[in-house]
Amino acid sequence: MRFLCETKVLAVEEMRREGERRWLRFIVSGLAEASPGQTAFFSESRHSPRCRIATVETVSEKRTVLVAKCEADDLAPEPGAALTVWSIETPAVSVGAGALVVTTPSFLYRVAPLQEHGAAILVETPGQDLWQDLRNRIGKDDDWSSVFLALEPARLEAFAAAFPEANPHIFANMDMSCGVGACRSCHVNLRDDGEGEASCRLGPWFALRRVDLVRLRFASAPFI
Ligand code: FES
Repeated sequence: MRFLCETKVLAVEEMRREGERRWLRFIVSGLAEASPGQTAFFSESRHSPRCRIATVETVSEKRTVLVAKCEADDLAPEPGAALTVWSIETPAVSVGAGALVVTTPSFLYRVAPLQEHGAAILVETPGQDLWQDLRNRIGKDDDWSSVFLALEPARLEAFAAAFPEANPHIFANMDMSCGVGACRSCHVNLRDDGEGEASCRLGPWFALRRVDLVRLRFASAPFI
């Protein structure tokens, strides 16, 4: 169920900065129906259509914290500004207790809030043999249904080659324009559905075996 909420920006904090690129925390009023780790959107009023992607970090009765990346030419909302925030319509898959989410240090801020739901996070580090680490964790059961890979498409292709039978979920990290399923800018090409699916409606998690990974490589946004 999609939430749609008029909020007010109470404060803005910089989490980190690399050159002109910034990662910001927006503390907004309300949004009690949001859930940590959920992908959310907000509009940037000077562009039309244009929506920005954020992740719900924490939720409390009166205020919610969103985290988002801002490029040099992005117009970040200022404290005091009104902000319309909405969510993905109906995520096809939810991450909950017992899930293992695999990601990189640079993308951790997008998935770390899922720990609130009982998910464990595995962050890939330089020199780590990630595939062996996963093999050890999955064991003989070979059940990948609770594994969620938030990794670049090239890494997913390497995973698929190393584990031809495995079918974990993958994070489709797409740039979005409308955020409501109308513009096709975020469509994920699927092997079993020629129309594909709008990530802003049903994403961001898709079963790996459904996704055309080569086309995803060319459509994906960087995992930063
Ligand atoms: S952003 Fe327009 S269809 Fe998803």
